[in-house]
Amino acid sequence: MTDGFDTEFFAERFGLRGLTAIVTGAGSGLGRQAARTLAATGAHVALLGRRPEALRETARLIAQVGGTARAFPVDVADQEAVHLVLDEIQQNMPPLWALVNNAGVGGRSTLLDVDAKMFDRVFDVNTKAALLMSTAFARRLIDKQLRGRIINICSLAAQTHPQYLGIYGASKAALEHLTRTMAHEWARHSINVNAISPGYIETDINRAMFLTPAGKKIVEGLPRQRLGTTEALDSALLMLASPASAFMTGATLVVDDGQRFSIG
Ligand SMILES: NC(=O)c1ccc[n+]([C@@H]2O[C@H](COP(=O)([O-])OP(=O)(O)OC[C@H]3O[C@@H](n4cnc5c(N)ncnc54)[C@H](OP(=O)(O)O)[C@@H]3O)[C@@H](O)[C@H]2O)c1
Repeated sequence: MTDGFDTEFFAERFGLRGLTAIVTGAGSGLGRQAARTLAATGAHVALLGRRPEALRETARLIAQVGGTARAFPVDVADQEAVHLVLDEIQQNMPPLWALVNNAGVGGRSTLLDVDAKMFDRVFDVNTKAALLMSTAFARRLIDKQLRGRIINICSLAAQTHPQYLGIYGASKAALEHLTRTMAHEWARHSINVNAISPGYIETDINRAMFLTPAGKKIVEGLPRQRLGTTEALDSALLMLASPASAFMTGATLVVDDGQRFSIG
């Protein structure tokens, strides 16, 4: 006997069974966690990143608990290679549904020390590759008249001004702006585009820095004096990736443990 609670309704509204989710930068940190989280909802996950062995390890972790994932080693800044990978995904996996633009690179410098090479390295991956991956993905959805979700991993550094993160923050601020434009342009195609803006979460991108005296001082200054762990984004990701978030587009969810209150 049931009390009227409709389990099927929630499985359908929040589950991603029979759909494909693409995660870039899926071989480590937040990307590996995002891939594992989406696979747990039933999605088949396409794992993109440059290091094949790191992607294979993510695929192994997913398979170990009964999920489905396939590794597609690729440099997301290489447009031609990205198109080939998307073709392969489209031909060999269930219908496209979600793209998580998570691949990103750091870069610490004062503005006076920034040169063109550093600027391009950061913007090429964090902004340009995320935009071009999104347009390539959206075109495929539009061609097939499929609905979908794009989730851009931005950063608290886009809205605050942490020392030495001017260029990195600008690259993520640009991606946040593009998130709103994509949401606007693709609303009529039922492609919802949102961003997650994480605070400091301990991963390969910042682990060494947080071991330095300056890094330890940053943590001491945070409201809860702690860094996040990779699970911190699970709930925001699940919400934005789910069919249930159909009325949400162009938003940025800040997931930062209140860190913005103490970062300038
Ligand atoms: N950790 C934080 O505190 C924090 C806070 C705010 C935002 N973020 C953002 O979260 C995202 C994930 O970072 P993370 O913290 O998980 O650090 P991470 O472990 O260093 O992850 C970055 C991922 O991006 C991939 N990547 C970099 N360049 C690539 C390229 N050209 N082509 C394909 N993949 C590429 C890397 O894989 P390969 O090297 O194998 O290519 C790596 O898996 C980044 O966008 C970062 O800016 C992180």
